[in-house]
This record gives sequence, structure tokens and C-alpha cells, in this order.
Amino acid sequence: MADLTPGKLLIEGKTKQIFELPKQPGACLVQSKDRITAGDGVRAHNLTGKAEISTATTCKVFELLNTVGLKTHYIKRASETAFVSKKCDMIPIEWVTRRVATGSFLKRNIGVKEGYRFNPPKLETFFKDDANHDPQWSEEVLIANELKCGGITIGKDEVDFMNRTSVAVFEVLEKAWASIDCALIDMKIEFGVADGELMVADVIDSDSWRLWPSGDKRLMKDKQVYRDLQVVTQEALDEVKANFKWIAERLDLLLPSPKALVVVLMGSPSDEDHCKKIVKTCRDMGVPCQMRVTSAHKGPEETLSIIAQYEGTGIPTIFIAVAGRSNGLGPVTSGNTAYPVINCPPVKSDTAMRDVWSSLDVPSGLGCVTVMYPEAAGLAAAQMLGLTNHVIWARLRVKALNNYLSIKASDKKIREF
Ligand SMILES: Nc1ncnc2c1ncn2[C@@H]1O[C@H](COP(=O)(O)OP(=O)(O)OP(=O)(O)O)[C@@H](O)[C@H]1O
Ligand SMILES: [Mg+2]
Repeated sequence: MADLTPGKLLIEGKTKQIFELPKQPGACLVQSKDRITAGDGVRAHNLTGKAEISTATTCKVFELLNTVGLKTHYIKRASETAFVSKKCDMIPIEWVTRRVATGSFLKRNIGVKEGYRFNPPKLETFFKDDANHDPQWSEEVLIANELKCGGITIGKDEVDFMNRTSVAVFEVLEKAWASIDCALIDMKIEFGVADGELMVADVIDSDSWRLWPSGDKRLMKDKQVYRDLQVVTQEALDEVKANFKWIAERLDLLLPSPKALVVVLMGSPSDEDHCKKIVKTCRDMGVPCQMRVTSAHKGPEETLSIIAQYEGTGIPTIFIAVAGRSNGLGPVTSGNTAYPVINCPPVKSDTAMRDVWSSLDVPSGLGCVTVMYPEAAGLAAAQMLGLTNHVIWARLRVKALNNYLSIKASDKKIREF
């Protein structure tokens, strides 16, 4: 266990203190306070228990983001009220992502009705400057300011990175909350730079978003309740805290263990290497995956009994059939289950044109699909399971983000050649 004894106080803000960790250079301790503030700090109150609730919320949210492959500063929880993160140079911008128009957006965009839905989500950036009430900055203003943070200058590439990442973070959390019937309306995040790399930093908790259970504004469970108070009584503060607690109590539901399965059926053990590539892709996407050897030509009753075994578990399951030459396995499986079947024949280049037809030209009444590559089979299965599992969906969403970001990074590098 690393030594988490805090060292020097590096930064103190309205709701948190950031301490050095002398035994862990490059990391810091984000210590939450029992403090709630609004209106650029004009309204501020002590709220016993808030530090613990906020820390629990932030840690679970960052665990979800890290699990699905999104880069954040979060390392681990340190105590009830603190977590360890990478020490960042913070970019003084708030990135706000909105699905539904409400609040300040309506004041700044006269005529837009509350409830207007942004598809894709709407992004706005605000310069963090309490004295001037965090002015909105357009992308052009942001780029023109050439902000310097952690050795990098914030230009168009960096803004693209943060824009795309903000929307991905929003969508991942939106899907997670939707799984328990809560609508994520909007949220703000901040970015920092550590070791020359941009990443999501600061906190993401009930101060950061609007969250409406069943999409009903009257049921809101976020800090807006505190912002809207006419008079702040102890009773009102208790209600704010109860709302935050309501959120904190549901956090484990955001990162459930996956209830999904892929079963790779291979006609012969000689297909094992091909099948293992499918298994790797599935597991990278957080999908549990098993392999079985069965031949629909040589042991059809065994094939049917394997299908029945998985149907009996009640776990949403996708079968991937791997059979060379004549693929009886996939079509026979497809004809005997309502679960999806994906054919992924291990075709060889010289016989591919001949062999693939047994997977494609199937009898009427069958809905199996066919792909050429093991990675494609794994991803197709994950996409089907992602429809009902937000963690799998999130891994796919973040994979698409990371593909985009890595092409952008390569482009930037080659431009500088
Ligand atoms: N990983 C990190 N490394 C360094 N500083 C961080 C990190 N994460 C967050 N911070 C910074 O910690 C400071 C204290 O947080 P707090 O939210 O209390 O500040 P604040 O009063 O709200 O001020 P601000 O308006 O800047 O957020 C903020 O300036 C925030 O940017
Ligand atoms: Mg802050």
C-alpha cells in the first residue's frame, strides 16, 4: 500500500484541497470539504457529510470512465473523503455538454424552449473566472488565447480532443444513468495536463450535472435544488443532502458486472487460434466469452444440447460459429435458437470464395450473419450486447473515440515532420 500521508497543500478551492503526496511524485490527494457553494461562491454553506458523498460519487464515476478506457486523472480512492489522482496543470475552462436545453442556456438563447433536445449533445466552453462570472468562450476565442498548461499550448488539436472527449464522457454517463431510469440533462467537466498528456480531471459529482429521475424536472437530484433555494434553511440543506445521498446510494448500479455472454462454437480444435482472436476482442470489450468444440455434421445432438444449456441460463448470449470448408455449424445453430448467431469462418485466401457460400447462402427462416475477420465477429457481438448493457456500450463508444484521437495524434506528428 503506497504511503498516502499528505504533504504540502498545493491548492485550496471552494470545495476541495489538493495536497502533495511526497511518497508518490506525480500524484496528489484530492481532499473534499463539507462545503457547498453556488453562484461563483456567493452562496456557500457547510454541509456535514457532503465530502463523503461527493468523493463516493466522483470515485465511482471515474472508475467507470477508467474501466471503459477513457483517460482520466483518477488513480484510486484514498479515504472516505479523498482520492488519489495524477497531479495536473489544470486548464481553466469548464466544458459543458447538454442533451436538453434548460437553465442558463435558455437565458442566453432567447426563444429556445426548455426541453429542446440536442442531437448530438451541445458543447459550450466557459473561462473559469469567478470575478467575471465565468464568461462563455467560443472555440475561436479559446484558440486565440493560446492557453499554456503543463508544457502544451491549447490550439485547435487540443480543443478537438477535449470537445470529443467531453461528448464521450457525457454519453457514457448518460447511458449509465439511463440504465436506472435517470436522465442526464447536462454536465460540466474540466481537463488537466500530466506528463504532457491531456486528460479528464477535477471531479464529476452531483455538483457537476443535472440529473432528473424519469426525465422529470420536478424530481431533480442535483445541486440545482440548492441554487434554486429562496431561503437556505437547515431543513432545505438536509433535503439537498438527501438528494446527493440518493445518488450516492445508486452508484454501484453504474458499474454492474456484465450479464452477457459470447459462446464461440468451433467445428474443430484446429480453429483454436482464430477463435482466440474473437475471445480477445470480446474480453477487451468487457464481454465474458467461452469457447466450445462441436460439429453440427458429426455430432448434431451435442450441438443442440450445448445451445440448450446456454439458453437455460437466462443470460443474453450470442453464438459465434467458426467452421471451415462447409459451415453447417452456424446455420444449424441459427435454425435452432432465437439467440443471434454470427458466422466467422476461418477462410483461407485460396478457398475463401468457395467456402464462404455455406455461411451466406442459408435456408429461408434463418437470420445468421457472416463476417470475415475475428475482430469483426467480436465487435459485432459486443455491439448487439451493448444495446442492453451500458458498460459494454461505453467500451465501444470509447474505442471509437480513442480511434479518432489516435488518428488525430498521428496526423499532428506527421505534419510536424
Ligand atoms: N488532478 C489535479 N491536479 C491539480 N489540481 C487539480 C486537480 N483536480 C482538480 N484540481 C484543482 O483543484 C482546485 C480546487 O478545487 P475546487 O473545485 O475546490 O476549486 P474551486 O473553488 O471550485 O475553484 P474553481 O472555480 O477553480 O473550480 C481547482 O482549481 C481544480 O482545478
Ligand atoms: Mg471547482
